Amino acid sequence: MNDRFLRACRREPTDVTPVWFMRQAGRYMPEYRALRAKHSMLEICKTPDLATEVTLQPLKLGVDAAILFADILLPLEPMGASFEFAKGEGPVIHEPITSRAQIEKLRVIDPTDGLQYVLDAIRSIKTALAGRVPLIGFAGAPFTLASYLIEGGKSAHFVKMKRFMYTEPEAWNLLCSKLAGVVRKFLHAQIEAGVDAVQLFDSWVGQLTPADYAEYVKPHVKHILQDVMKAGVPVIHFGTGTQHLLEEMRDAGGTVIGMDARTPFAEGWKRIGYDHAVQGNLDPTILFAPPELAKKHADRVLDAAAGRPGHIFNLGHGILPETPVETVQAVIEHVHARKLTKST
Ligand code: CP3
Repeated sequence: MNDRFLRACRREPTDVTPVWFMRQAGRYMPEYRALRAKHSMLEICKTPDLATEVTLQPLKLGVDAAILFADILLPLEPMGASFEFAKGEGPVIHEPITSRAQIEKLRVIDPTDGLQYVLDAIRSIKTALAGRVPLIGFAGAPFTLASYLIEGGKSAHFVKMKRFMYTEPEAWNLLCSKLAGVVRKFLHAQIEAGVDAVQLFDSWVGQLTPADYAEYVKPHVKHILQDVMKAGVPVIHFGTGTQHLLEEMRDAGGTVIGMDARTPFAEGWKRIGYDHAVQGNLDPTILFAPPELAKKHADRVLDAAAGRPGHIFNLGHGILPETPVETVQAVIEHVHARKLTKST
């Protein structure tokens, strides 16, 4: 197997820096759009053969890891909060949470009860990969999942959620405990089904101050990560807008910490500590610039990493739908063309 990605997660030396992209399977690829013309997003997630096909699509670009094709919101449906991906709007929760009574009704499901299709997809993807590259599984973190449940969809200011969190802290903690319980079991089930690493997406947690993070979020994330880390596979802890939270997130858990595009890389890694691997940092919009400029920006990240073992090249956030495929490929080839000299 090409194990560059796993070696870097473990901070072992690699020949070149491993690279993969969040949202690497998606609308910027013509093959994905062709399949989406025939099937809905949820249909693809729920049909292991289709999820397998999409997961494998970006491999031809030369990435060093595959990420399971699914979505962080999938556990919400069996928990009792139905939703849809509405065209042009993103996720829409049918009955957003406004009361403690709704939280009490949410079911703390077992992954085999309602998410078996994801576990089946993992087995199918592992067979299809035939050991070519490792497979990354994932789940959403309680704060980010709660943001969709309470806001009802995407949000600019998270007013409803923050109001709920501040005014009903007990109900908030009940909600996050239920989500954490499901996510913890779900990640374990994905590992049992065969994923080689897992990533916890806390995409919107950068909204909070370090003090609020420590009070309202950290205990729940810690509950998930400290337990999942015992399973022995690398655990990536990711958020955006988290420059002020890096130490808190590291302390909550994760063997690899994500750095968004606004975090100065060298300083960020130093703060996280060299006893952790790091991932991310390239601005997803730089892929819209001419390839030569995108490569220059990739060099800045690589220069800041300075060949230190434990760097996984990625974007600071997901790849955007209109991104030119040629530039994605050019950046991957460029990262792989830089040989790493032996370093400590
Ligand atoms: O990275 C991958 O290639 C794996 C697949 C993956 C998807 N979503 C597929 C998807 C992963 C890891 C996710 C995670 C996810 N989903 C996050 C965390 C990562 C991040 O970007 O912060 C979040 C917040 C979601 C929730 C979600 N799902 C949103 C906000 C949307 C709409 C976004 C949009 O651009 O329309 C989705 C839908 C979604 N999930 C798509 C894909 C490929 C687009 C579906 C389509 O219309 O084809």
